[in-house]
Amino acid sequence: MRMVDIIVKKREGKELTDKEIKFFVNGYVNGSIPDYQISALFMAIVFQGMTNREIVTLTETMRVSGDIVDLSDIKGIKVDKHSTGGVGDKTSLAVGPMVAACGVKVAKMSGRGLGHTGGTLDKLESIPGLNVFESVEQFKKQMNDIGLAIIGQTGTLVPADKKMYALRDVTGTVESLPLIAASIMSKKLASGSDCILLDVKFGNGAFMKTYDDALKLAHTMVDIGKSLGKDTRAVLTDMSQPLGLAVGNSLEVKEAIDTLKGRGPKDFVDICLHSGAIMLEQAKVVSSEEEGIEMLKKVIADGSAFQKLRELVIAQGGDVSYIDHPEKFEVSKNIIEVKATKPGYVKQIVALEIGESAMRLGAGRETFDDIIDMSAGIVLGKKVGDKVNVDDTLCTIYTNKDNIEEVVRDIESAFVIVDEFVKTPPTVHAYVK
Ligand code: URA
Repeated sequence: MRMVDIIVKKREGKELTDKEIKFFVNGYVNGSIPDYQISALFMAIVFQGMTNREIVTLTETMRVSGDIVDLSDIKGIKVDKHSTGGVGDKTSLAVGPMVAACGVKVAKMSGRGLGHTGGTLDKLESIPGLNVFESVEQFKKQMNDIGLAIIGQTGTLVPADKKMYALRDVTGTVESLPLIAASIMSKKLASGSDCILLDVKFGNGAFMKTYDDALKLAHTMVDIGKSLGKDTRAVLTDMSQPLGLAVGNSLEVKEAIDTLKGRGPKDFVDICLHSGAIMLEQAKVVSSEEEGIEMLKKVIADGSAFQKLRELVIAQGGDVSYIDHPEKFEVSKNIIEVKATKPGYVKQIVALEIGESAMRLGAGRETFDDIIDMSAGIVLGKKVGDKVNVDDTLCTIYTNKDNIEEVVRDIESAFVIVDEFVKTPPTVHAYVK
């Protein structure tokens, strides 16, 4: 088999055989096929796409390219949740403890943030001492002890994706539905849970800019999961404005704590309740979403969801006094309020702009080596649909950087205020199962 023939076949829009897919994935991982040939193939895939069968074979071949986590000796149904990434998306930090407090095992392997999107690992690491790199044995022990673990992917899980993603990142081939679906699902399917809930985001702050593309991605990933024997479902959620109010690592941890104490912002609470309820349904502890939502509201009200976050932090070596006293988190030296200069209603808060600005304030990294300022970020004072008067605070900026006039101007420009009444948008737009 010759790699060049596979490239030409895909360039001409033909369907690759299972053998050809295994040939290029395994050849790339073992170094016998060079970057330039895989780049050419990926560009052909960007333009020609892949059939469902090709995507399933690609996912499965990537999944078995390294270690596979076996959680079968942990009792009960294990659930995992994955978000395709966004701005202010701290859902795992709240929904993980909520679902685990209902007695369901939540086994989550998360990633870091890059560019305008934040990552759960970075947020967790803003809690002093907290370790996100456990061995698989520790991960399993923690699952048995407290029913909840959120750690970084082990270095040996899906090495094919590590190599392929790094190449896609520098060859303009990230934005391909088959490649995104196989990348996400190979990792989820290798990390050992029985059920997977996917939060597929759409809007300017997400990978998928339109609802239709997000729906296609959701269907593709749900089909892959099902065809490989896992209960896989998806919610489609809006990422045209940031989720909740806080954007930035320790700021988001504080918002997750507030949420677990029953004081979270409405859109964020909504997503946590809907996603969590589906996870409870998948784990078969409730028989409807409504029942799930009631159960989740109870574990917030009786404090057990908050206790579960404390247990997670203690189990992973974090200083739990920060969870009990969030005022202990370092506050940035520069705090700037952005005020409304005209009255009206908030029509838009461009998530992409807020995410990129938060990164420039120090909250995110442009390259893998950048060091994050855990205290930096933005806290919204208004959301889409809110009424605004002159001098109301649109958002508060936190940073340790100086000379940030340009960032402040960009943040101001992210808010679109109009005279006409604007309806508050829904958070969950569709379910796929
Ligand atoms: N997240 C992933 O893990 N892979 C992609 O390709 C895109 C988003």
